[in-house]
Amino acid sequence: MTEDTAPAGTITTVEAIAGHEGRTVTLRGWLYNRSSKGKLHFLQLRDGTGIIQCVMFSQEVSDETFALAGSLTQESSIVVTGTVRADKRSKIGFELGVSDLTLVHMAEPYPISPKEHGVEFLMDKRHLWLRSRRQHAIMRVRSEIVAGIRDFFDGRGFVNVDAPILTPAACEGTSTLFETEYFGQNAYLTQSGQLYMEAACMAHGKVYCFGPTFRAEKSKTRRHLTEFWMVEPEVAFMDIDEDMELAEDLVVFVVHRVLDRRRPELEALERDTARLESVTRPFVRMSYDDAIRTLVAAGHLTSWGDDFGGDEETVLASQSDRPIIVHRFPAAIKAFYMKHDPARPELALGMDVLAPEGYGEIIGGGQREDDLAVLEKAIAQHGLSPAVFEWYTDLRRYGTVPHAGFGLGLERTVAWICGLKHVRETIPFPRLINRLTP
Ligand code: 4AD
Ligand code: MG
Repeated sequence: MTEDTAPAGTITTVEAIAGHEGRTVTLRGWLYNRSSKGKLHFLQLRDGTGIIQCVMFSQEVSDETFALAGSLTQESSIVVTGTVRADKRSKIGFELGVSDLTLVHMAEPYPISPKEHGVEFLMDKRHLWLRSRRQHAIMRVRSEIVAGIRDFFDGRGFVNVDAPILTPAACEGTSTLFETEYFGQNAYLTQSGQLYMEAACMAHGKVYCFGPTFRAEKSKTRRHLTEFWMVEPEVAFMDIDEDMELAEDLVVFVVHRVLDRRRPELEALERDTARLESVTRPFVRMSYDDAIRTLVAAGHLTSWGDDFGGDEETVLASQSDRPIIVHRFPAAIKAFYMKHDPARPELALGMDVLAPEGYGEIIGGGQREDDLAVLEKAIAQHGLSPAVFEWYTDLRRYGTVPHAGFGLGLERTVAWICGLKHVRETIPFPRLINRLTP
């Protein structure tokens, strides 16, 4: 920028504009939209923190500047100086009376116009679509949820331990593994950090990992991604009941954290926040047995031993205005590591948290098998290689204790809290069965 075009006001952001009322400031951003009327240009400036209307009156700027503003294309990058004025009609309560504007870059014709576009088109342009108002709000809510999750665990004495992404074995069944060649041996992208957290909780007591996980999901649904983020706490000496309490506390904490700090974003998304306000303790606990009875009574063709799909989860969750927790599933439909219920060995001490409003399972977890012999038998029964799990079974050889944990899927949680139809909008760059770009 040359000397004579250097900004005259304090550089600030739209988010911080209220603190500058009556003063001259400089904002740096992109032209979101423009309308012109005779001697006036109304420029919607987007700076990453928000959008503000900048009003340019021809008599308050040079002729060149007025002409430049009139020629700006959507998403051109600009630096605008002006006076901050309170304005009741504005969503943010302020507008800028422009005294100067400089161009950083005149954008080429922008492919995303305010008119309707198909989802596939927008997904192809995801790198640009992220700039639009709705996507901006979703990413801010996602960021708040991530921060809330970390604060929740950090504030309760959990230690953050990272799990590896390249792994030698399956944690959640062999049908959804992404395989890759690893210097002459097979490796898989992790499906879950759980097994590693089981090791870590024996070292630290309370731990969590939070990272990307991968599932080669062959199904195209509104709640499946092939790459998604999961937070996975694991606690030594914890049983399934305490596990359900921890899950409940986390969900309540995160929902209220977003309500406290991201109201404008929820409003931009037209989220019915009353539905979120009602998310308080306690959540209904429902045994799998009762869940089957509920489904049968609702006319579903299901019987004891069946796993639930999205439709079943929706019916079950509609029993309450807050999430519900289903627990004690048939061991046969659950992963090898789940502890069998000592009272009824045909059951696994697993639990799922189902979100209301049709969002379904957001958390899966439970108590882990802590008996060496039982675990070894389960590994064999699931057709898994004992050698690959040698390190894992070691945890039952050296000071085994009852322990439990769970995994909360970040994207499904974001979809629910934001009230979105599909998880593809909850992650910056979604990976789906038919999408690897951008
Ligand atoms: O129920 P899941 O498969 O549980 C586990 O992976 C356990 N090992 C976690 C643990 O106990 N530490 O997955 C946990 C959660 C689900 O409830 C769901 O929210 C999310 O991860 N999830 C997915 N989210 C998006 N796309 C997918 N394909 C998902 N698969 C699971
Ligand atoms: Mg599950």
